[in-house]
Amino acid sequence: MIRSVITGSGSALPANCVTNAEMAERVDTSDEWIVERTGIRQRYIAGEGETTSTLATQAARNALENAGVDASEIGLIVLATATPDHTFPATATQVQHALGCGGGVAFDVQAVCSGFLYALATADSMLRTGMATKALVIGAETFSRILDWEDRTTCVLFGDGAGAVVLEARDVEEDGPGILSTKLHADGAHRELLYVDGGPSTTGEVGKLRMKGREVFRHAVVNLADVLREVIGNTGISAEEIDWVVPHQANARILDATARKLNLPAEKVIVTVDKHANTSAASVPLAFDVARRDGRIKQGDLVMFEAMGGGFTWGASLARM
Ligand code: ACO
Repeated sequence: MIRSVITGSGSALPANCVTNAEMAERVDTSDEWIVERTGIRQRYIAGEGETTSTLATQAARNALENAGVDASEIGLIVLATATPDHTFPATATQVQHALGCGGGVAFDVQAVCSGFLYALATADSMLRTGMATKALVIGAETFSRILDWEDRTTCVLFGDGAGAVVLEARDVEEDGPGILSTKLHADGAHRELLYVDGGPSTTGEVGKLRMKGREVFRHAVVNLADVLREVIGNTGISAEEIDWVVPHQANARILDATARKLNLPAEKVIVTVDKHANTSAASVPLAFDVARRDGRIKQGDLVMFEAMGGGFTWGASLARM
């Protein structure tokens, strides 16, 4: 059977690391408050010359090198972002040009923090229907550029970065590698809980992120537990067989609460929110790359990806490495 197999990963972070202590110099907050409520200790913030496309290109290059794939072999780039370099063209086309692999398919998807799950599902469908044989799936963000740096309730939570995977269509056995099952959802009823108060067709300004954190938290735990159960139910694989969960890194307490609801041991959950903060669509592939490179995620492992974000959008995907 034809499956989409993850054959490489890569990531990129801006040069500038900002600690909680430095955040406390900008707004009325403290390292203690941020660590206790979120688990975040630091975040990376893009400086001059660093944009969503430059971070995405660097992550993509690292992923190609890791997979042993040449840029010229890539026929599809799906890039998830809510902070594109420009309203158009799609950031994916800028990455395609920078990599020197023009001529294939390249476009962005926008599902905020769930963007990588949406991009992975889109690329998986396109590979399995033969529209391409090798793809780059990228999550890249510069949320620092849409933060209200005077709002302590949001500005301490987010960071910038990019992560990428190489996805290849392969003819594999039933118990072989590849994406096994994915479930995506959206519900536009809760826009006011998490949104950006601008846009090209409304204010004409980029706008700033606005969030009612406590309510988002409540929805996140319920929706994530539900979609994880759906994917597990779809595959007939038991929760105990899952080797690793790579969740969207929004808040250590959301990760703990979700794992507890599903009886997944905390040591199976990959956590990078302490180092990267919430990097929206970049957080899942960034965390995945960290855990692959440090040797935790190995060939043959069953890995669950999951995310929830603005929209609301949420989803989960189970893959064998
Ligand atoms: N420093 C110090 N005090 C703060 C800060 C800060 N940075 N931010 C808020 N406070 C204060 C508030 O003003 C409030 O004070 P008050 O009681 O005097 O009014 C108090 O801390 C408690 O505020 P809450 O918002 O109730 O705190 P809570 O425990 O809910 O934590 C948080 C807030 C961290 C935002 C949490 O709700 C959360 O993580 N929510 C999930 C949101 C999220 O991660 N969204 C990302 C996108 S969606 C997703 O990825 C799932």
